[in-house]
Formats: sequence, C-alpha cells, structure tokens
Amino acid sequence: TKPLRIGIAGLGTVGASLARLLITKSETITRRAGRPIEIGAVSARDKTRDRGVDLSALAWFDDPVKLAQDGEIDALVELIGGSEGAALDCVRAALSRGLPVVTANKALLAHHGVALARLAAENGTELLYEAAVAGGIPIIKAMRESLSGNEVSRVTGILNGTCNYMLTRMERENLSFEACLRDAQALGYAEADPTFDIGGFDAAHKLAILTSLAFGTEIDIDSVYVEGIQSITAEDIAAATELGYTIKLLAVAQKTDTGIEQRVHPTMIPAEAAMAQISGVTNAVTVDTDLLGSIMLAGPGAGGNATASAVLSDVMDLATGVVPPTFAVPPDRLVPYERARM
Ligand code: NDP
Ligand code: HSE
Repeated sequence: TKPLRIGIAGLGTVGASLARLLITKSETITRRAGRPIEIGAVSARDKTRDRGVDLSALAWFDDPVKLAQDGEIDALVELIGGSEGAALDCVRAALSRGLPVVTANKALLAHHGVALARLAAENGTELLYEAAVAGGIPIIKAMRESLSGNEVSRVTGILNGTCNYMLTRMERENLSFEACLRDAQALGYAEADPTFDIGGFDAAHKLAILTSLAFGTEIDIDSVYVEGIQSITAEDIAAATELGYTIKLLAVAQKTDTGIEQRVHPTMIPAEAAMAQISGVTNAVTVDTDLLGSIMLAGPGAGGNATASAVLSDVMDLATGVVPPTFAVPPDRLVPYERARM
C-alpha cells in the first residue's frame, strides 16, 4: 500500500519527538493506520544540531515554505510555532497546494484558525490540530465530535503545563519562580518565548480555540481577559495554603446573559477541589453541558512525547482517510463571537 509521506516543518521538542515516534513505532502505526507513514522531507534552521534521531537521509529544506510548496509530500506537519512568519506562511502554502496540514500551533490557530480553515475548505483539504490545546489530552476530538449533541455552558481549564508545573513546585518545594521556569524550559514545556506561558497568553490562545468549539463561534483571541502568573510570589502561595487554597492559572469560557466571557487569570481554588489536585505539567479541562452535567479530562499538557502523541493521532487520521472537520461546523457556519459585558 502507498505510504503517507509527511513533511515535518520544525524539529524541536515536538518535531524531533514525532520523528522518533514515527521511526520507533512504525510497525504499530502501519498496522493501525493500514499503511506506512513516512517522513518525506523536513525543515529546521540548524542542519548540524543533534536531534536524537537520524534524519540525514531525508530531503532537507532550509525554508519551510519551500518544503510546503515543492516537497514530495502528501501532508505538512507544522511544528515551528508563532502566529506569524514561517509557520503561517508554510501552512498557507501547503493548504493552497491542497495538502492537509497538522499543527500543534495554538498561537497560529487563535489568530488565523478560521481563515486557515476556510482556505483548507476552498482547496478541498484539512487542517487538524489535536495537539494545540492541552498537549496529549484528546480534548479537540472530544469537544468537536463526542460532545456534538450537547449544549455547552462553560469550559474551565488548566491549559498551560509550564505555569502549572511552576506553581506546583513553588508550592511544594518552596523553589523560586526563576528556578522553576528554568526547569520547565529545560524539560521542553515552555514556549520559545516563555512570556507566552507566564503571561497567560498561551492559555488564552488555547481557551479561544476551545470557546469556538464549545459555542460554534468564530475565534476571538482579542476578547480574552488575560492575567499571567508573573506577580505570584512565594508569600502569595504560602498565604493561600494557610487558608486551605491552591493557586492555579485558570482559563474559563462561559455563556452569560450578555454574551460569551473568556478569561485567564490566577485563581485561588479550595485545596480539596478536583482542579486543585492537578499538579505538575498535567492539564485538565472541565466541560459543563446540558446532557452530561460536568466532565473532566486530565493528562500531560506539554512535553515531547505527550504532544507528539496528539500530533501522531491527527497524522494517522490522514493516513486512514477518516478525517474529521476542522471545527464542529464548517467554517462558513461559525457565528460571530459576541463578547459578554464584564
Ligand atoms: P521548539 O522551539 O523546540 O522547536 C521549534 C522548531 O522550529 C526548531 O526545530 C526550529 O529550528 C524550527 N524553526 C524555527 N524557526 C524556523 C524557521 N524560520 N524555519 C524553519 N524552522 C524553524 O518548539 P516546540 O517543539 O516546543 O513547539 C513546536 C510547536 O508546538 C509550537 O507551536 C508550540 O506552541 C507547540 N506545542 C509545544 C508543546 C511542548 O510541550 N513543547 C506542547 C504543545 C504544543 P532549529 O531547531 O534549527 O532551531
Ligand atoms: N508551553 C505550553 C505549555 C506547551 O506549557 O503548556 C503546551 O502547549
């Protein structure tokens, strides 16, 4: 059977993990997907860097746009990051060529997701992004497909692994903010610019995507109220603990009488609450719906293998040909976002 040949743009924490998984798990993948998945070409900046996987025999493109335009590939996997520049350009180029795209890039989706979904539809192709929200947790498929008969009233999440890891270690080990951030970076959890993590913007990007899936609206990143964890001190954490609370960076989207409210900010949570138990790099999402009441999904929210696991599931969907829609409804049926008066 004909293999699915993918181009991987970006070979950092996630891209290199994906490449490793495709090689080490090739037998299982082929059996489950019904055909092999091969890496046809790759792109990154530094050709000499050791990525823990031998990619020397593969076609190498310095420019990911050229990879998207000219690579002998059936799909592009974008793992560069950033809402503009190389990531946006190569995704546009691939979709314009009719190639499906898999991405883990929530910044890109929060700013351009609807336009890119429209571009995909115009070119008869797909845009998949399971890894973009909450790392390895299958929250996109759950909200887009499994909850399709539900009315969602609220989504609450711990959506940034870096912040949760830092807050947990600051609380339990009394470590400094800076030391915890350094460790999160060393573990591959943080964004290339960690301001996106600690400033709350990464959680806001993810929340904006979930809001669209929950309420069928266009993505509106500019309406998210954002406050990060930069000003949380050891004293704040100690005071919260003494009062029986834990501090978490929460992301909340809910329907109100005046529209939809989206906010990200540090929140004091009673220590016995389920969200307070979510520790380290773990993320969690609670969805309140009319049919289910409340469901919670939790699991690893960042890191190479956890994120590559979600990317791989999208790539395997492409290989099997069972491809879900980008959003719960076609992009032209998304309704405008109506911001709640706060
Ligand atoms: P890294 O910073 O580790 O890797 C980025 C990769 O992109 C590097 O290989 C880099 O090349 C390459 N790159 C950067 N600019 C260019 C360019 N102009 N042309 C070609 N290649 C370029 O990022 P991550 O792997 O951590 O993240 C990738 C994406 O996945 C991001 O969108 C991120 O938000 C998302 N994500 C990350 C998670 C994580 O846990 N890390 C979890 C969920 C999503 P070089 O190596 O040569 O410098
Ligand atoms: N920097 C992100 C986080 C990666 O820490 O959650 C996963 O999206």
